[in-house]
Amino acid sequence: MGLLSNPPDSKHTRAKFNKWSPCYNWDVNDWDWQGPEHIFASVLNNHDTASLEDFKVADLGAGTGILTRKFINSGSDVVAFDISEKMLGELRKVNPNVPVIQSDMQAGCVPSRSDQFNIAVACGLFEFIRDSDRLISELSRITKKGGTVSFTTLETEATVQKVDRLISGLLSYVTPRKLPHRTMAHKKDSILASAGRTGLELNEHSKVKAYRPAGIGTVTYNLFNFTKI
Ligand SMILES: C[S@@+](CC[C@H](N)C(=O)[O-])C[C@H]1O[C@@H](n2cnc3c(N)ncnc32)[C@H](O)[C@@H]1O
Repeated sequence: MGLLSNPPDSKHTRAKFNKWSPCYNWDVNDWDWQGPEHIFASVLNNHDTASLEDFKVADLGAGTGILTRKFINSGSDVVAFDISEKMLGELRKVNPNVPVIQSDMQAGCVPSRSDQFNIAVACGLFEFIRDSDRLISELSRITKKGGTVSFTTLETEATVQKVDRLISGLLSYVTPRKLPHRTMAHKKDSILASAGRTGLELNEHSKVKAYRPAGIGTVTYNLFNFTKI
């Protein structure tokens, strides 16, 4: 894990997403946000659509619930976790029955008992998290044996710089003053090593085109899909 002089700060991240929440869906739609679609498709490589009906899903960094809704629409029960109460508020406007838990994943602890979920996903969350090892261990802990853990990460410094440029522009638009911010890249090998230590067996690693904001170009994510063994 690299240490940054200006690492992501949960207080600022929460403030930014709280401010951004009313127009988040509109913006990411404009950027052709494909992250949730990629994660959902990768989960369907492990489980058929019918089995999703009986599943309990943890969506970490659920935001306004774009990925949550894909599971809800397949009949799963979803619990949504996020640091931003206003992003979760937007989720509840559309899905008032989804349990939401406001929590800071930077703190390295998911507020759930162990072995609770058939599927645990995190789409677009890891770039805000310093300690990927800790978060992977938590994703594994809350997932039942035979269940799926799937998430996206940023890998290269070049991608981080693109995302930071985007976020800086967004900060000046959604917040009255510019807040310091820096997203995090996580190396594939370090993700795989963490996953191996915590009982996650790799099914899929791929590079996926996540979004294409005007003036920034295509942002590519690493997508991981594991089975808890
Ligand atoms: C890029 S958005 C992705 C939202 C959603 N998963 C999607 O695909 O549209 C990142 C989300 O992670 C949440 N987040 C960022 N840092 C967090 C933290 N430390 N703990 C929990 N959630 C966090 C943000 O509030 C935001 O809702």
